[in-house]
Amino acid sequence: MGFTKVFYFILIVVLYDLINGGSSTTFTVVNQCNYTIWPGLLSGAGTAPLPTTGFSLNSSESRLISIPASWSGRIWARTLCTQNVTTGKFTCVTGDCGSSQIECSGAGAIPPATLAEFTLNGAGNLDFYDVSLVDGYNVPMTIVPQGGATGVGNCTATGCAADLNGVCPDQLKVTVEEAEGGVAVACKSACEAFGTPEYCCSGAFGTPDTCKPSEYSGLFKKACPTAYSYAYDDGTSTFTCSGADYLITFCPQSEESASAPAYRDPQPDTFNVSAAASLAASPTFSVAFSLGVLAAAAVSGVGSGTW
Ligand SMILES: *[C@@H]1O[C@H](CO)[C@@H](O)[C@H](O)[C@H]1NC(C)=O
Ligand SMILES: *[C@@H]1O[C@H](CO)[C@@H](O)[C@H](O)[C@H]1NC(C)=O
Ligand SMILES: *[C@@H]1O[C@H](CO)[C@@H](O)[C@H](O)[C@H]1NC(C)=O
Ligand SMILES: *[C@@H]1O[C@H](CO)[C@@H](O)[C@H](O)[C@H]1NC(C)=O
Ligand SMILES: *[C@@H]1O[C@H](CO)[C@@H](O)[C@H](O)[C@H]1NC(C)=O
Repeated sequence: MGFTKVFYFILIVVLYDLINGGSSTTFTVVNQCNYTIWPGLLSGAGTAPLPTTGFSLNSSESRLISIPASWSGRIWARTLCTQNVTTGKFTCVTGDCGSSQIECSGAGAIPPATLAEFTLNGAGNLDFYDVSLVDGYNVPMTIVPQGGATGVGNCTATGCAADLNGVCPDQLKVTVEEAEGGVAVACKSACEAFGTPEYCCSGAFGTPDTCKPSEYSGLFKKACPTAYSYAYDDGTSTFTCSGADYLITFCPQSEESASAPAYRDPQPDTFNVSAAASLAASPTFSVAFSLGVLAAAAVSGVGSGTW
């Protein structure tokens, strides 16, 4: 009987995995900012839906998200969000998705926002990922791959750990009236601020040959060499792994995730296994946890009837 239950439990877990398209990827989203953020997720057209499209993440909290195979999409942070007590509308000062709710439900980030972009199991069955400042910047963010196949792709940490709000040129700066002169909360792209084809890589400037880095994108690139600073910045900003999970950290504080150099050994000392194990054991890791509960509940449901 015990063996039968174990067998069914394993069967259900395996079936669940198959239904979800075989091997899935785990994103560990960590908020190291000393304020609450509301991560938003947007799936690319035609890819499988996610277990969540937006949630709140307190300072120093983490959350595991199970990502379906071949998913492509974006994740970003919303900041300074509030819910209007009269209307119930949920809005954010930066990265708002305009859904009026915590879930973004298919809506993307209104710029400026730092974006993490993924195409899992893309060409050559590689995962492609980058951190982009093409739509501007609001919060520092890094992507650290974990457990990718060694020697495959350029499977290294990337991102923008620097605070660009502080160094943002006045023409691009987004401020809130909290203090005298305002507090910088985001930094627009030159395209958003000026709207010209030259800065937006559109029209006559719509090819890699004609669209060049500008003094503004150059500023972003200097602060964050591995992040996309303008539309055709692919060569130094796209990374690839095979079979990895991804640690996505907002406001990375540790030296490892903060430095995120361009060309480093794929799986170095950057990841603290014992810290990860204790993170994974924490109840805030709701998705993986509730999957287990779901499977267990299914087993006990079957068991009470027919076993
Ligand atoms: C967060 O950190 C910033 C910069 O270190 C500091 O100025 C601010 O007071 C901190 N805020 C909180 C709520 O701890
Ligand atoms: C997040 O912080 C708020 C306000 O401090 C608190 O009410 C809430 O319980 C916290 N959420 C979690 C999951 O710890
Ligand atoms: C809430 O929404 C109402 C109606 O749009 C608006 O008049 C009010 O100023 C809002 N409250 C806050 C705190 O923003
Ligand atoms: C990583 O590899 C991809 C695919 O080969 C390549 O296009 C990209 O330029 C590489 N990125 C870096 C930062 O070297
Ligand atoms: C790894 O994390 C554990 C638990 O947080 C900590 O005690 C340990 O010092 C860390 N080790 C390293 C090498 O950072």
